[in-house]
Amino acid sequence: MKELKKRYHVEVHAGSIPMPKKLLISKIKDKDGLICYPYDSIDSDVINAATRLKAISTYSVGYDHIDIKTASKRDLVIGYTPEVLTRATADLTMALMLSLLRKIPEGDKLVRDNKWKTVFGPYEFLGTDLYQKTLGILGMGRIGKAVAQRASGFEMNVIYHNRTRLTKKEEEKLGARYVSLESLFKTSDILSIHSPHTPQTHKIINLKLLKKMKRTAFLINTSRGKIINEKDLVIALKKKIISGAGLDVFQKEPIDSTNPITKLDNVILMPHSGSATTETRKKMAEIAVKNLVLGLAGKKMIYQVKM
Ligand code: DGY
Repeated sequence: MKELKKRYHVEVHAGSIPMPKKLLISKIKDKDGLICYPYDSIDSDVINAATRLKAISTYSVGYDHIDIKTASKRDLVIGYTPEVLTRATADLTMALMLSLLRKIPEGDKLVRDNKWKTVFGPYEFLGTDLYQKTLGILGMGRIGKAVAQRASGFEMNVIYHNRTRLTKKEEEKLGARYVSLESLFKTSDILSIHSPHTPQTHKIINLKLLKKMKRTAFLINTSRGKIINEKDLVIALKKKIISGAGLDVFQKEPIDSTNPITKLDNVILMPHSGSATTETRKKMAEIAVKNLVLGLAGKKMIYQVKM
């Protein structure tokens, strides 16, 4: 805000989120630049109403909430914040994995609720090792690679599927083996999603694919909720077609209290917090501001969406 206020007249939406569409449309009419968040839908209605708008800067790596086609027709430039959040998001992925496999939320609750009765019972409160388990990574971009690096520290076997295969050198460096989508679902003990949400990946994870997974397998998603058919995932979790899921992202965010996923006990849920560390959010803020300033000055942004 300090940097922005030095340069521009800034109007901040401080009300409920996401900003109501009607309000956004009325407010954006006379704005030259916009800083937005992944929960703001910057669709064609918003862009078309923003007749003065030159630059959009999203405080996120994902930009699936922005209608790129319409923005491109209007010659708008769009900035985003990759790289700086890679480690934080990969860390949260590992945290979800460990929490699921070692039942950390359940353990915490058990102790607090004074239900811890047996000390060191050989068959009590058993989780699962990460050691030598097969981690499947769907989407081997920056975050997928950072997860692979971390998984090798836990001595896991890493397999992956991606639109394009990595070079042999990169595969060797990461210790990751390329497999088909089907094989990824069949073989993984833990499957972690790191693809962007695009028309091609929209709801690609459906019951048919989930049924290919091992009954003992876990699914982790720190990418975008809309990559999964959430109704199908609820069925798979309820019927124990898969063992559990760690989810940081959902089809609709914030999640409704009526969402059946909140009633399941084989899931760990987080409020879309992949990049939520003090250090990372600060870096994202700096880049979001720099992107906007550069875009409004007609210069190339640090991270500009290719259109
Ligand atoms: C992003 O920046 O798109 C992430 O989803 C935030 O965690």
